Amino acid sequence: MSKVFSCSEVCLSMQVFCIVLLNLIKVESAFRMLLSRLTIQMKIKPRCCSTNARREGPVHLSVNGREFQRDTWSNVSSKILSHLGKKLHLQKYHPLSLIKQRIVNLFYKRFVGRTGNPIFSVYDDLEPIVSIKQNFDSLLIPPYHQSRKKSDCYYINCDYLLRAHTTAHQSELIGMGLNNFLVIGDVYRRDEIDSTHYPVFHQVDAVRLCGKHEVFRSIENGDKMAVFENEGERTAQKQEAHTLEASKIMEDELKSTLIVLAQDLFGQEVKYRWVDAYFPFTHPSWELEVHHQDKWMELLGCGIMEQRILQNAGAQDRIGWALGLGLERLAMCLYDIPDIRLFWSTDSGFLSQFENRDPHDCIKYKPVSIYPQCINDISFWLPNDGDYTSNDFYDLVREIGGDIVEQISLVDKYFHPKKQHTSHCYRIVYRHMEKTLTQEEVNTIHKQIEKAVALKFNVSIR
Ligand code: PHE
Repeated sequence: MSKVFSCSEVCLSMQVFCIVLLNLIKVESAFRMLLSRLTIQMKIKPRCCSTNARREGPVHLSVNGREFQRDTWSNVSSKILSHLGKKLHLQKYHPLSLIKQRIVNLFYKRFVGRTGNPIFSVYDDLEPIVSIKQNFDSLLIPPYHQSRKKSDCYYINCDYLLRAHTTAHQSELIGMGLNNFLVIGDVYRRDEIDSTHYPVFHQVDAVRLCGKHEVFRSIENGDKMAVFENEGERTAQKQEAHTLEASKIMEDELKSTLIVLAQDLFGQEVKYRWVDAYFPFTHPSWELEVHHQDKWMELLGCGIMEQRILQNAGAQDRIGWALGLGLERLAMCLYDIPDIRLFWSTDSGFLSQFENRDPHDCIKYKPVSIYPQCINDISFWLPNDGDYTSNDFYDLVREIGGDIVEQISLVDKYFHPKKQHTSHCYRIVYRHMEKTLTQEEVNTIHKQIEKAVALKFNVSIR
């Protein structure tokens, strides 16, 4: 027979049971409280943003009719956002649109299907607001890469930014099943300010993917050759996944296309050279430089696409090449345009010189007249929080001075050993594109800049 508990034994075990139960309830409620605190914290803290950075301005940002939550990553100014709908590359007879058309024509002519129809499709009106995934992750750009920095990009918030290159659309278009396409559009980067740099410029990206039969189409016994190999090695010449033959054939097609492009733009006699390069999304990678007016000019970047990008986009059975090129620098060279700000001019003195012209015409821009520069310096002690970069200052000056700011340069740095403070002196060159500025006009704007600097960075002007 089984032993029955005595009365005192039962009482004792009941007591122990109650104590254990009470403690369990306490532990559980403490755990619940901790959990709810954690969830609150998680809710109010943006996913990838630091909480100690200052946040200014309204909570929401309205861009292209879409509402975005601002956070500590938001650094896009209203001045920059005002460029969003301009689409210079879509304006008929705009010099950027003429050059774009010339490049598109070349791709249409060079790559045709069986019936002579162009096989490249053109995407020139894709939304410039892209996700972190589109601009960086999908292109295998490492998490701490310089190009992701807040000092280099215009972030809407920690999830979205204004695309920093048209390559941002590559992986999605491949995912949609496209094999041959061009993406053309405005791109946004925080950079220095001079006659060849502007925070908004235009790029063309081209992508071409080929299956086995296409790669080896002009090779005898091509059907016996392979595009991929299993235990291959990554070398300076190719990726681990590709056979050397396939990679070399694609390289040849890419390079010969680009030489034809350079000759079409700069003339048959153009001198060019290939320079080895590095991009996280291609391997091997090159830059093409052309010799123009006694200088080597970098025309474009290109390479064999990283196979991992194709795999992630569902195109694992193909091999591809890609290239990216900036339109402004090209147009400045070809049309003798001396200053990048001119592309944004609505002045007929500028635009009329391209009106009704053909993309293949040789056009040389003649400046209507040259207006004098006005130069003012500004010096201040840098803020103490260590977050400051010169690009913060350049953006602020742009925001207030607009396009009459021609150049800004850091002319002097000084470290005060006793105060442990650094001071920067910047030289701002003002010049209007269409009229002479008076010193008085310049002084008014310069004062506004000084005021804004003092306010925004919480510093004193020296
Ligand atoms: N996206 C690169 C840039 O902006 C250019 C590029 C595109 C290079 C495609 C290789 C392939 O500099």
